[in-house]
Amino acid sequence: MVEIKEIRKVETEKASIHSHITGLGLDEKGKALPKGDGLVGQLEAREASGIVVQLIRQGKMAGKGVLFVGPSGTGKTALAVAIAKELGEGTPFNMLNASEIYSTELKKTEILTQAIRKSIGVRIREKRTVYEGEVKELRLKVAKSRLNPYSEVPREVEITLVTKDDQTKLTAGETVAEQIVRLGIRKGDVIWIDAETGNVVKEGKAKGSVQYDIGKTIDIPSGAVKKEKELVTTVSLHDLDLNVAAQSVSITAIFSLWTEREITQDVRKQVDTLVKDLINKGMGELLPGVLFIDDAHMLDIETYSFLTKALEADLAPILILATNRGITKIRGTDIESPHGIPLDLLDRLLIIPTKPYTPEEIKEIIKIRSDELEIEIEPTALEELTKIGSEESLRYAVQLLEPARIIAQRNSRNIVKVEDIKEVYSLFADVKRSVKYAKEYENLLLK
Ligand SMILES: Nc1ncnc2c1ncn2[C@@H]1O[C@H](COP(=O)(O)OP(=O)(O)OP(=O)(O)O)[C@@H](O)[C@H]1O
Ligand SMILES: [Mg+2]
Repeated sequence: MVEIKEIRKVETEKASIHSHITGLGLDEKGKALPKGDGLVGQLEAREASGIVVQLIRQGKMAGKGVLFVGPSGTGKTALAVAIAKELGEGTPFNMLNASEIYSTELKKTEILTQAIRKSIGVRIREKRTVYEGEVKELRLKVAKSRLNPYSEVPREVEITLVTKDDQTKLTAGETVAEQIVRLGIRKGDVIWIDAETGNVVKEGKAKGSVQYDIGKTIDIPSGAVKKEKELVTTVSLHDLDLNVAAQSVSITAIFSLWTEREITQDVRKQVDTLVKDLINKGMGELLPGVLFIDDAHMLDIETYSFLTKALEADLAPILILATNRGITKIRGTDIESPHGIPLDLLDRLLIIPTKPYTPEEIKEIIKIRSDELEIEIEPTALEELTKIGSEESLRYAVQLLEPARIIAQRNSRNIVKVEDIKEVYSLFADVKRSVKYAKEYENLLLK
């Protein structure tokens, strides 16, 4: 059986055009506030999303799905982000754009399997032997680096840890010394060191160790320095796959890119056995998370049938899809279907519609975005942008904010005025004007 020593988390993505969203903005009864957590309007869809969050938390959504349907710019992606924020760190949330499944390096089924396994978490509880206490003495020994003789690297560390009742002096090698330097650990910090792996964790400053309390101060631990500590880590099945795969390759293979490689069925089986084993021993539990696929109309018939099947598996994530298409062909077929999604899958989904915004709501959203981007904007300029937002599109109006700031700055101002908005409006065409232009110069443009 494989052993897992250190598990690296796979990157989490940040969608910056939705950075103003911190949750669904609901009250205790699940009613949507007119404005809350960065969201405005779209009340029914937000309340529906709130119910979905509750179902996910209660574990009643695994193997089911949700579909957001609505015109472009009505907040479908925004609502999915809000759901992720509501669920918090504890529930894995994996975002994928449908176009990402068309890769030249990996098979579609491999990408989908990885996506599904990224959306299923395992919470591992482990008892580890650690040394924990406040740093009383710290002495680093440095040596010349083997790679660069002009620089010095930490080689060894002598550290004295104290608790309320105990004191221990430890000597540790390079791994620990290097982490001590990297984490900037000083006298007065409370830390623990994993006795087996040498992993160092800084917990905070000990109470009373510093004159000015900056950051977190914590109590000095009591009891012995060397002790058993229960550690809880949440990783996804995919993280485990990568770790196991990395352990079973030769050193030369490590230099090739991991994430771009196929993971063998064998590795996945090993991980599944390992996870089952952890669960049976009471050391772990499964957390079905969310797989969100944006712009679902880009998926093709094979993908849909794969997803339908995956939803029925023992270990199924919650599927959330979003699309702005009406009745359209299912990709890869000549069959028309609502939202381009096969009826058998559609039947398994809860559908949440999103509606276009009123000018008042558009104004609020633009205001929130300008606050988020720290762009000061005059009321008249905001009115102008709102007009553009309701006549053209919300996204177009939001996109004009940054260019307008540049024009204001060129005129040595920090505040965006209505003339700046008019100027950017004339410089950057919206879709309608662009189409008009394309028609006007039809015979000059390349076909
Ligand atoms: N109710 C809302 N409150 C606050 N901001 C919103 C709201 N709805 C949308 N936004 C913001 O407006 C912009 C456009 O919304 P979003 O990208 O979610 O639209 P969409 O429905 O996913 O469109 P598409 O179909 O084109 O993908 C984003 O910056 C989003 O964060
Ligand atoms: Mg979207």
